[in-house]
Amino acid sequence: MSEITWVYIKNLAQHIGTKVEIRGWIRNKRSSGKLAFLQLRDGSGFVQAVAELAVLGEETFKIIKTIKIESSFIIRGTVNKDERAPNGVELAVEYFQPVHLNTDDYPIANKDHNVDFLMGYRHLWLRSKRQFHIMTIRNRIIRAIRDFYFKEGFKQIDNPIFTGSVGESAGNLFSLDYYDYGKVYLAQTGQLYLEAAAQAYGKVFDFGPTFRAEKSKTRRHLIEFWMNDTEMAFFHHDDNLKLQEQLVSYVVQSVLENCKEDLAALERDLTFLERVKPPFHRITYTECIERLKKDGFSIEWGDDFGAQEEIHIANLYDRPVFVEKFPRAFKAFYMQPDPENPKVVLCADLLANEGYGEIIGGSERIWDKDLLIERIKESGLNVEEYKWYLELREYGSVPHSGFGIGLERTVCWICGLQHIREAIPFARTLYRVYP
Ligand code: 4AD
Ligand code: MG
Repeated sequence: MSEITWVYIKNLAQHIGTKVEIRGWIRNKRSSGKLAFLQLRDGSGFVQAVAELAVLGEETFKIIKTIKIESSFIIRGTVNKDERAPNGVELAVEYFQPVHLNTDDYPIANKDHNVDFLMGYRHLWLRSKRQFHIMTIRNRIIRAIRDFYFKEGFKQIDNPIFTGSVGESAGNLFSLDYYDYGKVYLAQTGQLYLEAAAQAYGKVFDFGPTFRAEKSKTRRHLIEFWMNDTEMAFFHHDDNLKLQEQLVSYVVQSVLENCKEDLAALERDLTFLERVKPPFHRITYTECIERLKKDGFSIEWGDDFGAQEEIHIANLYDRPVFVEKFPRAFKAFYMQPDPENPKVVLCADLLANEGYGEIIGGSERIWDKDLLIERIKESGLNVEEYKWYLELREYGSVPHSGFGIGLERTVCWICGLQHIREAIPFARTLYRVYP
């Protein structure tokens, strides 16, 4: 037996007819007399194994018959072809060694638990098949985002989480005491630092955790979420939108190509995802208001959209849609006013269809120092805190644009999830920081 090698389940199909070792956990089992069927997982995939009394002997077979779900093991056996199995193989157990025999029943067996219960056991829930597929797709999305930028010649910039100034809006900040310095905030976005990096390296992106003290308990909001900010020197509004539609299309295509089994396991309808190719639709905020009024919404020019309005607009289209040029009054201080109508700014939100709503927020940035100071003041922010940010407008200032894409919103949309809390390993929501 010494020649037997440890193989991950996802690679078992390359070992048909040979003896291998796998190391993992028992998801489920069913036994009848002298035969037991074990559902195994090892973190890379899932496989069924068949254990026989005649092969293993009384003592080992008894352990298998009484073993509790999610106990851990080392198994050796022969990989057999099985047309009916999802990965085309089955394992015939020849050696079974428990690593840890659970004494208690597993708290989340295959019953219909409600989500709140499952969130309380998130540390165990992650082991389930559905969560495996969601995390696999999340990983693919992260990888595709990075690949896209490296392919396009961007530099990754890792931005700080402790920040001295408001990055997005004063309304939903976490603040804490930072030694003698006083109050600092947890980053809402890496954008401001990325603007500095764009003047250093041209095209840059970051990818990291961001924080919003959101008071709203919705299926689209997390308190801590991952964002990819991107910033390009010499890019105007239109260049910015083109890059976004390329990025999003690349990410969706990459998931469609590489995660077929995962999407199938989640029973994701691919009709809309398959259409995600440039060009995306565009509609202005002003056109949206007219349309919403016509369709019976009570909304006026100058009002922000709620989730219902967003979903209504997104559902008018067969692929993601950019809503452009919102009123400057409720958008962030750094957005460049539209030269053709300074009441609106050169920004866009990208809305995903099928009810998912905003996944990207972006804009052209103000690059004139005096106008930026005016807007900082107008937004009730402290100009002193933006000294370094204003200096970017003193030394080689250039037009520039950028955006931020929310990772969990994107995972939620591509996986077709009901709620964003399943899109991140350990969600932080209004009422939950456990586990
Ligand atoms: O639209 P937002 O607030 O834009 C910014 O922060 C810009 N500074 C980004 C930039 O231009 N570099 O956030 C960007 C995206 C949203 O479109 C959404 O996908 C996600 O971040 N997001 C959230 N995701 C989950 N929970 C929340 N509370 C979120 N708030 C924003
Ligand atoms: Mg936004």
